Amino acid sequence: MAAVESLASKRSIDSGGTKKLLIDGNWVSPSSGETFETRNPANNNLLGRIASGNARDIELAVGAARRAFEGPWSKFSPFERQRILLKFADLVEANFEDLCVLDTLDMGVPISLARSRKQRALGLIRFYAGLATTIHGDTIQNSIPGEFFTYTLKEPVGVVGAITPWNAPLTSTIWKLGPVLATGCTMVLKPAEQASLTPLRLGELLLEAGLPDGVVNIVTGYGETAGAALAGHMGVDKVAFTGSHFTGQKIIEAAKGNIKRVTLELGGKSPDIVFADADLDAAVPGAAMAVFMNSGQICSAGTRLLVERSIYDTFVGKVADYAKTLRVGDGLDPDTQIGPLVSAEQLARVKGYLAIGREEGAQALVGGDQLSGGAHADGFFVAPTVLAGVRNDMRVAQEEIFGPVLSAIAFDDFDEAARIANATSFGLGSGVWTRDVGKAHRMAKSIRAGTVWVNCYAAMDPAVPFGGYKMSGHGRESGTQHIDAYLETKSVIMKVA
Ligand code: NAI
Ligand code: MG
Repeated sequence: MAAVESLASKRSIDSGGTKKLLIDGNWVSPSSGETFETRNPANNNLLGRIASGNARDIELAVGAARRAFEGPWSKFSPFERQRILLKFADLVEANFEDLCVLDTLDMGVPISLARSRKQRALGLIRFYAGLATTIHGDTIQNSIPGEFFTYTLKEPVGVVGAITPWNAPLTSTIWKLGPVLATGCTMVLKPAEQASLTPLRLGELLLEAGLPDGVVNIVTGYGETAGAALAGHMGVDKVAFTGSHFTGQKIIEAAKGNIKRVTLELGGKSPDIVFADADLDAAVPGAAMAVFMNSGQICSAGTRLLVERSIYDTFVGKVADYAKTLRVGDGLDPDTQIGPLVSAEQLARVKGYLAIGREEGAQALVGGDQLSGGAHADGFFVAPTVLAGVRNDMRVAQEEIFGPVLSAIAFDDFDEAARIANATSFGLGSGVWTRDVGKAHRMAKSIRAGTVWVNCYAAMDPAVPFGGYKMSGHGRESGTQHIDAYLETKSVIMKVA
Protein backbone atom coordinates (compact mmCIF):
# COMPACT_ATOMS: atom_id res chain seq x y z
CA MET A 1 0.00 0.00 0.00
CA ALA A 2 2.79 2.41 0.93
CA ALA A 3 4.46 1.73 -2.41
CA VAL A 4 1.23 2.46 -4.28
CA GLU A 5 0.75 5.67 -2.35
CA SER A 6 4.26 6.84 -3.05
CA LEU A 7 3.76 6.10 -6.74
CA ALA A 8 0.57 8.18 -6.67
CA SER A 9 2.39 10.97 -4.91
CA LYS A 10 5.13 10.97 -7.52
CA ARG A 11 2.48 11.48 -10.19
CA SER A 12 1.12 14.56 -8.43
CA ILE A 13 2.65 17.98 -8.97
CA ASP A 14 1.03 19.30 -5.80
CA SER A 15 1.52 18.49 -2.16
CA GLY A 16 -0.82 20.45 0.12
CA GLY A 17 -0.81 23.54 -2.12
CA THR A 18 2.94 23.40 -2.76
CA LYS A 19 4.28 22.67 -6.22
CA LYS A 20 7.03 20.08 -6.36
CA LEU A 21 10.14 19.58 -8.49
CA LEU A 22 10.19 17.43 -11.62
CA ILE A 23 13.16 15.07 -11.43
CA ASP A 24 13.52 11.89 -13.47
CA GLY A 25 9.85 11.85 -14.43
CA ASN A 26 8.61 12.19 -10.85
CA TRP A 27 7.22 15.11 -8.89
CA VAL A 28 9.31 15.26 -5.74
CA SER A 29 9.64 17.51 -2.70
CA PRO A 30 12.78 19.64 -2.43
CA SER A 31 15.71 18.18 -0.43
CA SER A 32 15.65 21.10 1.99
CA GLY A 33 11.89 20.88 2.55
CA GLU A 34 11.85 24.66 1.98
CA THR A 35 9.28 26.48 -0.12
CA PHE A 36 8.48 30.05 -1.09
CA GLU A 37 5.35 31.98 -1.96
CA THR A 38 4.21 32.99 -5.39
CA ARG A 39 1.83 35.93 -5.56
CA ASN A 40 -0.40 37.67 -8.06
CA PRO A 41 1.20 41.08 -8.76
CA ALA A 42 -2.20 42.64 -9.59
CA ASN A 43 -3.43 42.32 -5.99
CA ASN A 44 -0.66 40.62 -4.01
CA ASN A 45 -2.89 37.60 -3.37
CA LEU A 46 -1.12 34.36 -2.52
CA LEU A 47 -1.35 31.88 -5.41
CA GLY A 48 0.49 29.00 -3.81
CA ARG A 49 3.88 27.80 -2.70
CA ILE A 50 6.80 26.68 -4.85
CA ALA A 51 9.53 24.20 -3.92
CA SER A 52 12.84 25.87 -3.21
CA GLY A 53 15.36 23.67 -4.96
CA ASN A 54 19.00 23.75 -3.93
CA ALA A 55 22.36 22.32 -5.04
CA ARG A 56 21.34 18.80 -3.93
CA ASP A 57 18.22 18.90 -6.12
CA ILE A 58 20.28 20.21 -9.03
CA GLU A 59 22.68 17.29 -8.49
CA LEU A 60 19.78 14.81 -8.69
CA ALA A 61 18.29 16.52 -11.74
CA VAL A 62 21.58 16.69 -13.63
CA GLY A 63 22.17 13.01 -12.85
CA ALA A 64 18.72 12.15 -14.22
CA ALA A 65 19.34 14.27 -17.32
CA ARG A 66 22.68 12.51 -17.92
CA ARG A 67 21.13 9.05 -17.59
CA ALA A 68 18.33 10.04 -19.95
CA PHE A 69 20.83 11.44 -22.43
CA GLU A 70 22.77 8.20 -22.47
CA GLY A 71 19.68 5.99 -22.16
CA PRO A 72 16.64 5.34 -24.34
CA TRP A 73 16.34 9.00 -25.42
CA SER A 74 19.61 8.66 -27.36
CA LYS A 75 17.93 5.95 -29.45
CA PHE A 76 14.94 8.12 -30.38
CA SER A 77 14.96 8.79 -34.10
CA PRO A 78 14.37 12.32 -35.41
CA PHE A 79 10.83 11.23 -36.34
CA GLU A 80 10.20 10.07 -32.78
CA ARG A 81 11.49 13.30 -31.27
CA GLN A 82 9.35 15.20 -33.76
CA ARG A 83 6.29 13.18 -32.80
CA ILE A 84 6.75 14.09 -29.12
CA LEU A 85 7.16 17.78 -29.96
CA LEU A 86 4.03 17.72 -32.12
CA LYS A 87 2.06 15.94 -29.39
CA PHE A 88 3.32 18.52 -26.91
CA ALA A 89 2.19 21.31 -29.28
CA ASP A 90 -1.29 19.78 -29.45
CA LEU A 91 -1.46 19.59 -25.65
CA VAL A 92 -0.33 23.23 -25.32
CA GLU A 93 -3.01 24.16 -27.85
CA ALA A 94 -5.69 22.23 -25.96
CA ASN A 95 -4.65 23.84 -22.67
CA PHE A 96 -3.78 27.24 -24.08
CA GLU A 97 -6.41 29.26 -22.21
CA ASP A 98 -5.36 27.76 -18.85
CA LEU A 99 -1.72 28.52 -19.61
CA CYS A 100 -2.60 32.13 -20.44
CA VAL A 101 -4.45 32.44 -17.13
CA LEU A 102 -1.43 31.06 -15.27
CA ASP A 103 0.85 33.60 -16.95
CA THR A 104 -1.60 36.38 -16.06
CA LEU A 105 -2.01 35.32 -12.45
CA ASP A 106 1.66 34.71 -11.80
CA MET A 107 3.31 37.63 -13.57
CA GLY A 108 0.52 40.04 -14.43
CA VAL A 109 0.50 40.01 -18.24
CA PRO A 110 -2.86 41.22 -19.64
CA ILE A 111 -4.84 38.13 -20.69
CA SER A 112 -5.46 39.74 -24.10
CA LEU A 113 -1.70 39.91 -24.70
CA ALA A 114 -1.17 36.36 -23.42
CA ARG A 115 -3.88 35.10 -25.80
CA SER A 116 -2.41 37.03 -28.72
CA ARG A 117 0.75 34.94 -28.39
CA LYS A 118 -1.01 31.72 -29.40
CA GLN A 119 0.49 31.54 -32.85
CA ARG A 120 3.90 32.32 -31.44
CA ALA A 121 3.77 29.67 -28.71
CA LEU A 122 2.45 26.90 -30.94
CA GLY A 123 4.50 28.05 -33.92
CA LEU A 124 7.70 27.78 -31.91
CA ILE A 125 7.06 24.18 -30.85
CA ARG A 126 6.03 23.09 -34.34
CA PHE A 127 8.98 24.92 -35.90
CA TYR A 128 11.44 23.00 -33.69
CA ALA A 129 9.52 19.81 -34.39
CA GLY A 130 10.24 20.45 -38.06
CA LEU A 131 13.91 21.11 -37.39
CA ALA A 132 14.25 17.73 -35.63
CA THR A 133 14.22 16.03 -39.03
CA THR A 134 16.60 18.44 -40.76
CA ILE A 135 19.79 17.78 -38.79
CA HIS A 136 22.63 16.61 -41.02
CA GLY A 137 26.38 16.70 -41.43
CA ASP A 138 28.31 17.19 -44.67
CA THR A 139 30.62 15.16 -46.85
CA ILE A 140 33.75 17.18 -47.48
CA GLN A 141 36.13 17.09 -50.41
CA ASN A 142 39.67 17.38 -49.15
CA SER A 143 43.26 17.44 -50.36
CA ILE A 144 44.86 15.00 -47.96
CA PRO A 145 47.32 12.92 -50.03
CA GLY A 146 45.83 9.46 -50.62
CA GLU A 147 42.13 8.69 -50.90
CA PHE A 148 39.88 9.74 -48.06
CA PHE A 149 36.20 9.80 -47.34
CA THR A 150 35.53 12.69 -45.01
CA TYR A 151 32.26 13.63 -43.38
CA THR A 152 30.81 15.39 -40.37
CA LEU A 153 28.32 14.10 -37.84
CA LYS A 154 26.05 16.39 -35.84
CA GLU A 155 25.56 15.14 -32.29
CA PRO A 156 23.57 16.60 -29.39
CA VAL A 157 25.72 18.63 -27.02
CA GLY A 158 24.40 16.75 -23.96
CA VAL A 159 22.84 18.04 -20.76
CA VAL A 160 21.57 21.61 -21.06
CA GLY A 161 20.97 23.89 -18.08
CA ALA A 162 18.27 26.39 -19.02
CA ILE A 163 17.70 29.41 -16.81
CA THR A 164 14.70 31.54 -17.73
CA PRO A 165 13.26 34.93 -16.72
CA TRP A 166 9.75 35.78 -15.55
CA ASN A 167 8.63 38.24 -18.21
CA ALA A 168 7.02 35.74 -20.62
CA PRO A 169 6.89 32.40 -18.78
CA LEU A 170 5.04 30.41 -21.45
CA THR A 171 6.95 31.43 -24.55
CA SER A 172 10.37 31.70 -22.94
CA THR A 173 10.07 28.16 -21.55
CA ILE A 174 8.95 26.83 -24.93
CA TRP A 175 11.82 28.67 -26.61
CA LYS A 176 14.30 26.81 -24.42
CA LEU A 177 12.57 23.43 -24.76
CA GLY A 178 12.37 23.43 -28.56
CA PRO A 179 16.04 23.12 -29.53
CA VAL A 180 16.74 20.69 -26.67
CA LEU A 181 14.07 18.24 -27.79
CA ALA A 182 14.72 18.74 -31.51
CA THR A 183 18.39 17.81 -31.16
CA GLY A 184 18.19 14.97 -28.62
CA CYS A 185 19.74 16.89 -25.72
CA THR A 186 18.32 16.67 -22.21
CA MET A 187 17.61 19.50 -19.84
CA VAL A 188 17.41 20.85 -16.36
CA LEU A 189 15.21 23.92 -16.32
CA LYS A 190 15.45 26.54 -13.57
CA PRO A 191 12.48 28.87 -14.07
CA ALA A 192 12.37 32.37 -12.58
CA GLU A 193 11.20 32.31 -8.96
CA GLN A 194 8.62 35.06 -9.69
CA ALA A 195 6.69 32.96 -12.22
CA SER A 196 7.14 29.20 -11.97
CA LEU A 197 3.53 28.07 -12.36
CA THR A 198 3.43 28.00 -16.17
CA PRO A 199 6.78 26.18 -16.60
CA LEU A 200 5.63 23.55 -14.07
CA ARG A 201 2.36 23.04 -15.95
CA LEU A 202 4.40 22.61 -19.15
CA GLY A 203 6.32 19.89 -17.30
CA GLU A 204 3.06 18.02 -16.75
CA LEU A 205 2.16 18.37 -20.43
CA LEU A 206 5.58 17.07 -21.50
CA LEU A 207 5.05 13.91 -19.44
CA GLU A 208 1.58 13.57 -20.95
CA ALA A 209 3.15 13.88 -24.41
CA GLY A 210 5.19 10.77 -23.65
CA LEU A 211 8.58 12.33 -23.03
CA PRO A 212 10.84 9.73 -21.37
CA ASP A 213 11.78 10.24 -17.71
CA GLY A 214 14.69 12.58 -17.08
CA VAL A 215 14.74 14.25 -20.51
CA VAL A 216 13.32 17.44 -19.00
CA ASN A 217 13.72 18.11 -15.29
CA ILE A 218 12.45 21.25 -13.57
CA VAL A 219 14.09 22.59 -10.44
CA THR A 220 12.32 25.70 -9.18
CA GLY A 221 14.12 27.94 -6.72
CA TYR A 222 16.17 31.05 -6.29
CA GLY A 223 18.84 32.24 -8.68
CA GLU A 224 21.65 32.36 -6.14
CA THR A 225 20.98 28.78 -5.00
CA ALA A 226 19.37 26.58 -7.67
CA GLY A 227 20.43 28.82 -10.59
CA ALA A 228 24.04 29.19 -9.49
CA ALA A 229 24.34 25.44 -8.77
CA LEU A 230 23.05 24.63 -12.25
CA ALA A 231 25.29 27.17 -14.02
CA GLY A 232 28.36 25.85 -12.21
CA HIS A 233 27.62 22.11 -12.36
CA MET A 234 30.43 20.13 -13.99
CA GLY A 235 27.91 17.66 -15.43
CA VAL A 236 26.13 20.34 -17.47
CA ASP A 237 27.46 20.72 -21.03
CA LYS A 238 25.70 23.92 -22.00
CA VAL A 239 23.87 26.76 -20.32
CA ALA A 240 21.13 28.64 -22.14
CA PHE A 241 20.30 31.77 -20.18
CA THR A 242 17.84 34.61 -20.59
CA GLY A 243 17.78 37.48 -18.11
CA SER A 244 19.76 40.49 -16.96
CA HIS A 245 23.31 41.18 -18.10
CA PHE A 246 24.43 41.21 -14.45
CA THR A 247 23.39 37.59 -14.07
CA GLY A 248 24.71 36.86 -17.58
CA GLN A 249 28.17 37.87 -16.36
CA LYS A 250 27.83 35.47 -13.42
CA ILE A 251 26.80 32.69 -15.80
CA ILE A 252 29.98 33.21 -17.84
CA GLU A 253 32.04 32.98 -14.63
CA ALA A 254 30.19 29.90 -13.47
CA ALA A 255 30.60 28.18 -16.84
CA LYS A 256 34.38 28.28 -16.85
CA GLY A 257 34.99 25.13 -14.75
CA ASN A 258 34.23 22.68 -17.56
CA ILE A 259 34.21 25.23 -20.42
CA LYS A 260 30.45 24.99 -20.88
CA ARG A 261 28.89 26.17 -24.07
CA VAL A 262 26.95 29.32 -23.20
CA THR A 263 24.23 31.20 -25.00
CA LEU A 264 22.95 34.41 -23.46
CA GLU A 265 19.89 36.46 -24.26
CA LEU A 266 20.26 39.58 -22.13
CA GLY A 267 18.78 43.02 -21.82
CA GLY A 268 18.72 46.08 -23.98
CA LYS A 269 18.13 49.79 -24.31
CA SER A 270 16.75 49.59 -27.78
CA PRO A 271 16.47 52.73 -29.95
CA ASP A 272 13.26 53.40 -31.88
CA ILE A 273 14.00 56.06 -34.50
CA VAL A 274 11.23 58.22 -35.95
CA PHE A 275 12.01 60.39 -38.98
CA ALA A 276 9.84 63.36 -39.90
CA ASP A 277 8.83 61.62 -43.14
CA ALA A 278 7.29 58.60 -41.32
CA ASP A 279 3.62 57.64 -41.36
CA LEU A 280 3.06 59.31 -38.01
CA ASP A 281 -0.42 57.85 -37.50
CA ALA A 282 1.18 54.41 -37.43
CA ALA A 283 4.34 55.51 -35.63
CA VAL A 284 2.55 57.00 -32.59
CA PRO A 285 0.89 53.79 -31.38
CA GLY A 286 3.84 51.80 -32.71
CA ALA A 287 6.36 53.73 -30.64
CA ALA A 288 4.10 53.70 -27.59
CA MET A 289 3.47 49.96 -27.63
CA ALA A 290 7.13 49.25 -28.42
CA VAL A 291 7.78 50.20 -24.80
CA PHE A 292 4.47 49.87 -22.94
CA MET A 293 3.62 46.33 -24.03
CA ASN A 294 4.00 43.89 -21.11
CA SER A 295 4.53 47.00 -18.94
CA GLY A 296 7.93 47.48 -20.52
CA GLN A 297 9.12 44.13 -19.24
CA ILE A 298 10.48 42.94 -22.57
CA CYS A 299 14.18 42.60 -23.31
CA SER A 300 13.87 44.21 -26.75
CA ALA A 301 11.45 46.98 -25.70
CA GLY A 302 11.95 50.21 -27.66
CA THR A 303 12.83 52.25 -24.59
CA ARG A 304 14.78 55.06 -26.27
CA LEU A 305 12.56 57.02 -28.64
CA LEU A 306 14.77 58.99 -31.03
CA VAL A 307 12.69 61.65 -32.82
CA GLU A 308 13.76 64.05 -35.58
CA ARG A 309 13.88 67.51 -34.00
CA SER A 310 11.42 69.16 -36.43
CA ILE A 311 8.60 66.91 -35.17
CA TYR A 312 9.93 66.15 -31.66
CA ASP A 313 7.46 68.19 -29.59
CA THR A 314 4.36 67.22 -31.58
CA PHE A 315 5.27 63.58 -31.91
CA VAL A 316 6.32 63.02 -28.31
CA GLY A 317 3.19 64.89 -27.20
CA LYS A 318 1.04 62.50 -29.26
CA VAL A 319 2.78 59.47 -27.77
CA ALA A 320 2.04 60.90 -24.32
CA ASP A 321 -1.63 61.42 -25.30
CA TYR A 322 -1.76 57.83 -26.50
CA ALA A 323 -0.25 56.64 -23.22
CA LYS A 324 -3.07 58.38 -21.33
CA THR A 325 -5.63 56.23 -23.15
CA LEU A 326 -4.09 52.92 -22.06
CA ARG A 327 -6.15 50.97 -19.56
CA VAL A 328 -3.94 49.86 -16.68
CA GLY A 329 -5.26 47.17 -14.38
CA ASP A 330 -5.63 43.54 -13.41
CA GLY A 331 -4.57 41.45 -16.38
CA LEU A 332 -7.54 39.09 -15.92
CA ASP A 333 -9.86 41.88 -17.11
CA PRO A 334 -10.07 41.36 -20.90
CA ASP A 335 -10.08 45.16 -21.41
CA THR A 336 -6.78 45.68 -19.59
CA GLN A 337 -3.98 46.80 -21.88
CA ILE A 338 -1.23 47.32 -19.31
CA GLY A 339 -0.84 45.05 -16.30
CA PRO A 340 1.19 45.42 -13.12
CA LEU A 341 4.92 44.97 -12.80
CA VAL A 342 5.91 41.48 -11.76
CA SER A 343 6.85 42.15 -8.14
CA ALA A 344 7.37 44.66 -5.35
CA GLU A 345 11.11 44.53 -6.14
CA GLN A 346 10.51 45.44 -9.77
CA LEU A 347 8.16 48.24 -8.71
CA ALA A 348 10.84 49.65 -6.39
CA ARG A 349 13.41 49.39 -9.16
CA VAL A 350 11.26 51.25 -11.68
CA LYS A 351 10.28 53.94 -9.15
CA GLY A 352 13.98 54.36 -8.45
CA TYR A 353 14.60 55.09 -12.13
CA LEU A 354 11.69 57.54 -12.23
CA ALA A 355 13.36 59.44 -9.39
CA ILE A 356 16.71 59.30 -11.19
CA GLY A 357 15.05 60.68 -14.35
CA ARG A 358 13.61 63.61 -12.37
CA GLU A 359 17.03 64.35 -10.81
CA GLU A 360 18.63 64.24 -14.24
CA GLY A 361 16.17 66.86 -15.49
CA ALA A 362 13.86 64.74 -17.66
CA GLN A 363 10.19 65.84 -17.66
CA ALA A 364 7.39 63.30 -17.38
CA LEU A 365 4.78 64.38 -19.95
CA VAL A 366 2.53 61.63 -18.66
CA GLY A 367 2.79 59.14 -15.81
CA GLY A 368 5.94 59.35 -13.75
CA ASP A 369 4.72 57.47 -10.72
CA GLN A 370 3.14 54.42 -9.19
CA LEU A 371 -0.64 54.04 -9.52
CA SER A 372 -1.78 53.33 -6.00
CA GLY A 373 -5.45 54.20 -5.47
CA GLY A 374 -8.65 52.18 -5.97
CA ALA A 375 -8.26 49.08 -8.11
CA HIS A 376 -4.50 49.60 -8.10
CA ALA A 377 -4.19 49.74 -4.32
CA ASP A 378 -2.68 46.33 -3.64
CA GLY A 379 -0.84 45.71 -6.91
CA PHE A 380 2.46 46.82 -8.39
CA PHE A 381 1.27 49.31 -11.01
CA VAL A 382 3.22 52.09 -12.68
CA ALA A 383 1.53 54.58 -15.03
CA PRO A 384 2.80 54.50 -18.61
CA THR A 385 5.42 57.23 -18.58
CA VAL A 386 6.90 59.41 -21.31
CA LEU A 387 10.07 61.25 -20.32
CA ALA A 388 10.87 64.22 -22.57
CA GLY A 389 14.03 66.27 -22.73
CA VAL A 390 16.21 63.19 -22.27
CA ARG A 391 19.88 63.24 -23.33
CA ASN A 392 21.46 59.98 -24.33
CA ASP A 393 24.08 60.19 -21.58
CA MET A 394 21.46 60.20 -18.81
CA ARG A 395 21.05 57.01 -16.80
CA VAL A 396 17.41 56.73 -17.92
CA ALA A 397 18.77 56.49 -21.48
CA GLN A 398 21.59 54.07 -20.73
CA GLU A 399 20.28 51.58 -18.15
CA GLU A 400 17.58 48.97 -18.58
CA ILE A 401 14.57 50.04 -16.52
CA PHE A 402 12.24 47.16 -17.42
CA GLY A 403 9.13 49.19 -16.77
CA PRO A 404 6.64 51.28 -18.80
CA VAL A 405 9.05 54.19 -19.16
CA LEU A 406 9.93 55.81 -22.47
CA SER A 407 12.94 58.13 -22.77
CA ALA A 408 12.49 60.54 -25.70
CA ILE A 409 15.60 62.05 -27.30
CA ALA A 410 15.79 64.56 -30.18
CA PHE A 411 18.15 64.22 -33.17
CA ASP A 412 18.99 66.52 -36.08
CA ASP A 413 19.90 64.25 -38.98
CA PHE A 414 20.51 60.67 -40.10
CA ASP A 415 24.11 60.53 -38.86
CA GLU A 416 23.23 61.85 -35.45
CA ALA A 417 20.36 59.37 -35.16
CA ALA A 418 22.72 56.50 -36.00
CA ARG A 419 25.33 57.76 -33.57
CA ILE A 420 22.85 58.06 -30.68
CA ALA A 421 21.27 54.71 -31.55
CA ASN A 422 24.67 53.02 -31.22
CA ALA A 423 25.86 54.98 -28.16
CA THR A 424 24.81 52.21 -25.77
CA SER A 425 26.43 49.10 -24.37
CA PHE A 426 23.48 47.04 -25.63
CA GLY A 427 22.34 45.93 -29.08
CA LEU A 428 19.19 43.81 -29.01
CA GLY A 429 16.26 45.45 -30.81
CA SER A 430 15.77 48.67 -32.74
CA GLY A 431 13.10 50.40 -34.79
CA VAL A 432 13.07 52.75 -37.77
CA TRP A 433 10.01 54.68 -38.93
CA THR A 434 10.26 56.35 -42.36
CA ARG A 435 8.59 56.32 -45.78
CA ASP A 436 12.00 56.54 -47.47
CA VAL A 437 12.99 52.98 -48.36
CA GLY A 438 16.62 53.84 -49.03
CA LYS A 439 16.94 55.59 -45.69
CA ALA A 440 15.38 52.60 -43.95
CA HIS A 441 17.89 50.20 -45.49
CA ARG A 442 20.82 52.48 -44.69
CA MET A 443 19.72 52.82 -41.09
CA ALA A 444 19.12 49.06 -40.80
CA LYS A 445 22.74 48.60 -41.82
CA SER A 446 24.05 51.33 -39.49
CA ILE A 447 22.51 50.05 -36.27
CA ARG A 448 24.55 47.55 -34.29
CA ALA A 449 21.70 45.41 -32.96
CA GLY A 450 20.39 41.90 -33.54
CA THR A 451 17.01 43.00 -34.91
CA VAL A 452 15.85 46.09 -36.81
CA TRP A 453 12.11 46.58 -37.18
CA VAL A 454 11.10 48.95 -39.96
CA ASN A 455 7.67 50.61 -39.69
CA CYS A 456 6.68 48.09 -37.05
CA TYR A 457 8.01 46.90 -33.71
CA ALA A 458 8.39 43.58 -31.89
CA ALA A 459 7.12 41.38 -34.74
CA MET A 460 8.74 37.94 -34.30
CA ASP A 461 8.71 34.59 -36.04
CA PRO A 462 10.30 31.24 -35.14
CA ALA A 463 12.15 31.22 -38.47
CA VAL A 464 13.79 34.60 -37.84
CA PRO A 465 16.96 34.71 -35.68
CA PHE A 466 16.75 36.77 -32.50
CA GLY A 467 19.57 37.83 -30.20
CA GLY A 468 22.00 40.51 -29.26
CA TYR A 469 25.10 42.42 -30.26
CA LYS A 470 27.41 43.75 -27.55
CA MET A 471 26.17 43.32 -23.96
CA SER A 472 22.77 42.08 -25.12
CA GLY A 473 24.12 38.59 -25.37
CA HIS A 474 25.71 35.85 -27.30
CA GLY A 475 24.16 33.50 -29.86
CA ARG A 476 20.81 33.59 -31.63
CA GLU A 477 17.53 31.93 -30.75
CA SER A 478 14.96 31.03 -33.44
CA GLY A 479 15.99 30.56 -37.05
CA THR A 480 17.27 27.29 -38.43
CA GLN A 481 20.76 27.94 -37.04
CA HIS A 482 19.49 28.03 -33.44
CA ILE A 483 19.89 24.27 -33.14
CA ASP A 484 23.60 24.54 -34.02
CA ALA A 485 24.14 25.82 -30.49
CA TYR A 486 22.79 22.47 -29.25
CA LEU A 487 24.92 20.31 -31.56
CA GLU A 488 28.56 19.28 -31.63
CA THR A 489 30.28 18.71 -34.96
CA LYS A 490 32.38 15.58 -35.28
CA SER A 491 34.69 15.18 -38.29
CA VAL A 492 35.33 11.64 -39.52
CA ILE A 493 38.37 11.23 -41.76
CA MET A 494 38.53 7.74 -43.26
CA LYS A 495 41.40 6.46 -45.43
CA VAL A 496 39.75 4.38 -48.10
CA ALA A 497 42.76 3.62 -50.31
P1 NAI B 1 17.87 37.91 -13.32
O1 NAI B 1 18.70 37.99 -14.54
O2 NAI B 1 18.58 37.93 -12.03
O3 NAI B 1 16.95 36.61 -13.39
C1 NAI B 1 16.81 35.77 -14.51
C2 NAI B 1 16.99 34.32 -14.10
O4 NAI B 1 18.31 34.12 -13.61
C3 NAI B 1 16.06 33.85 -12.99
O5 NAI B 1 15.67 32.52 -13.23
C4 NAI B 1 16.95 33.93 -11.76
O6 NAI B 1 16.55 33.07 -10.73
C5 NAI B 1 18.28 33.47 -12.35
N1 NAI B 1 19.46 33.86 -11.58
C6 NAI B 1 19.63 34.94 -10.78
N2 NAI B 1 20.86 34.95 -10.25
C7 NAI B 1 21.50 33.85 -10.71
C8 NAI B 1 22.80 33.31 -10.53
N3 NAI B 1 23.70 33.90 -9.74
N4 NAI B 1 23.12 32.17 -11.17
C9 NAI B 1 22.24 31.57 -11.99
N5 NAI B 1 20.99 32.02 -12.18
C10 NAI B 1 20.62 33.15 -11.56
O7 NAI B 1 16.82 39.10 -13.38
P2 NAI B 1 15.82 39.65 -12.23
O8 NAI B 1 16.57 39.82 -10.96
O9 NAI B 1 14.61 38.81 -12.22
O10 NAI B 1 15.45 41.09 -12.81
C11 NAI B 1 16.32 42.19 -12.66
C12 NAI B 1 16.45 42.97 -13.94
O11 NAI B 1 16.98 42.16 -14.95
C13 NAI B 1 15.15 43.49 -14.52
O12 NAI B 1 14.77 44.68 -13.94
C14 NAI B 1 15.52 43.65 -15.97
O13 NAI B 1 16.18 44.87 -16.17
C15 NAI B 1 16.48 42.52 -16.22
N6 NAI B 1 15.81 41.36 -16.85
C16 NAI B 1 15.96 41.21 -18.18
C17 NAI B 1 15.33 40.16 -18.82
C18 NAI B 1 15.48 39.97 -20.30
O14 NAI B 1 14.70 39.24 -20.90
N7 NAI B 1 16.45 40.56 -20.93
C19 NAI B 1 14.45 39.23 -18.11
C20 NAI B 1 14.42 39.43 -16.70
C21 NAI B 1 15.07 40.48 -16.12
MG1 MG C 1 4.18 35.46 -9.09
